[in-house]
Amino acid sequence: MENKTEWWKQTSIYQIYPWSFQDSNGDGIGDLKGILNRLDEIQELGVETIWFSPFYLSPGEDFGYDIADYTKIDPRFGTMEDCDRLIKEIHKRKMKVVLDMVMNHTSDKHPWFLESKSSPSNPKRKFYIWKKGSKKPPNNWISMVGKSGWNYDRATDEYYYSNFLSFQPDLNYRNPKVKQTMFGVLDFWLKKGVDGFRLDIFNSIYKDESFRDNPLSLRFFPTPDNHDEAFFQKKQYNLNLPESFSFAKDVRKHVSKYKHKPFLIGEVSGSDQVLKSFLGENADGLNLVFQFELIHFQFNAKFFKNLLLKNETIFPKPFTPTYVLGNHDQRRYIDRLGGDKRKAKLLVCFQFMARGVPIIYYGEEIGRKEGRISNFKGKDPIAKMNRFVPLFLSNLIGIYINRDNCRLPMLWDDSKNAGFTNGTSWLPVGTFQKEDTVAQQKRDKDSLWNQYRSMFQIRKEWQAVREGSLEVIETNVMDVLCFERKYKETILHVYLNFGNQLQKLPLTNKTNLIYAFGGSKLRESFLELPSLSGMILRMTESKSLRK
Ligand code: GLC
Ligand code: CA
Repeated sequence: MENKTEWWKQTSIYQIYPWSFQDSNGDGIGDLKGILNRLDEIQELGVETIWFSPFYLSPGEDFGYDIADYTKIDPRFGTMEDCDRLIKEIHKRKMKVVLDMVMNHTSDKHPWFLESKSSPSNPKRKFYIWKKGSKKPPNNWISMVGKSGWNYDRATDEYYYSNFLSFQPDLNYRNPKVKQTMFGVLDFWLKKGVDGFRLDIFNSIYKDESFRDNPLSLRFFPTPDNHDEAFFQKKQYNLNLPESFSFAKDVRKHVSKYKHKPFLIGEVSGSDQVLKSFLGENADGLNLVFQFELIHFQFNAKFFKNLLLKNETIFPKPFTPTYVLGNHDQRRYIDRLGGDKRKAKLLVCFQFMARGVPIIYYGEEIGRKEGRISNFKGKDPIAKMNRFVPLFLSNLIGIYINRDNCRLPMLWDDSKNAGFTNGTSWLPVGTFQKEDTVAQQKRDKDSLWNQYRSMFQIRKEWQAVREGSLEVIETNVMDVLCFERKYKETILHVYLNFGNQLQKLPLTNKTNLIYAFGGSKLRESFLELPSLSGMILRMTESKSLRK
């Protein structure tokens, strides 16, 4: 049932990568105080929920996704005091806070792992997955980064398992103490008032209890939304186990005890059926999962139409789809558009007006472009692992290797280092124009930043966008996507012209213009939609364009 407390169904999420958002002390690394200084601006844009990539204590080998203490703040980002203040200030501005929670693994520098590694009889040994192998790994499991997940430890002559990189040993959720300890970590943050968690590689939590070999497959390359068949194997026994689906429900039950009803969004991958299993058949699992299909969009009306139809068929209410254009692991969408901000405006209008939760990665609102740092020079551990693969080749096969390129600093203004730092930036700021910065785009009412701002506002203003039903409307123009959002008596229509010709569509009913961009016009009896323009209308008489 729809209910007022289910705020997470109606929200939008803005991801901040703390390393690159705003530095406050000149060490070239973004930090919590820096974020605090930018909160008013984030609010001005219209952000509702902020998700922070990890800022816990970490050696930083995977830039925070390798945690050494879940309840401490890494000194490079500030102190616990800064963090408490950040949470408070976010709430004061009526926004919500989501923390990244890496439950699957810790850093190999975490005291639990150091103890675990010290001896087979150490009480922490069973916190991780250890197994004997006779001169070779215990089975054929390939990790998500394409090599054996088993890591040999000479001292104890056993292997430990990691489904990501070797320095990220997987916790053993078959040990009830691990579960209990990690629930304790969630509690620590929930008591501080955190509104939810983004669960890192949640599809990897459980591994097969009897360690059966994975079956072989013909597929080599993974895609953002499918890791379960890659590197010539079907990851039947090390990803997406039924135990992980039921664990999703356990975590949901646990956090639901809190009055403020925190929510969970899972990073999982696989078929639609797999995603649904994480959400629970009665929508009693994770509240949301990232849906990465929009990341590899084709820029034509048919692609977007099919995506809407699919989501309405497979994830109808009470499920809530998510619309993701990028994150700290993926190529930025603006580069896929050849930098064309007019096209970006269409994409964003689609993302925000569809039924579901739009997820925005910092910098998308200004069309922040990628870097061209070679794999050889990469700081990203994935780049280091593949340092001899030339950049053009990884681009050609469509595999994103050097994630540094999508993590470059935010472009605030045209001062030194784009206002990100007055020291030496940890990753290069790169070349940019004044028009690429937040400061300049705020001044220009036709900028991409202002398009985002309008989209946030329209969501806030119209219940029909936040929780209305969605129906695709057939126009007889192939290049134009039209869909309806409806809540009670309110009906909105969204028109987007993805083609390169001006289109005119007849209008037989009374309408009010809510928003127009790209030169579209509402005429007496028709709509005028130039190439790459769009429009949002309120239908003041029902039936509208439909026969
Ligand atoms: C997730 C994160 C990624 C990280 C990995 C291991 O995919 O998004 O950045 O490297 O998990 O934690
Ligand atoms: Ca800093």
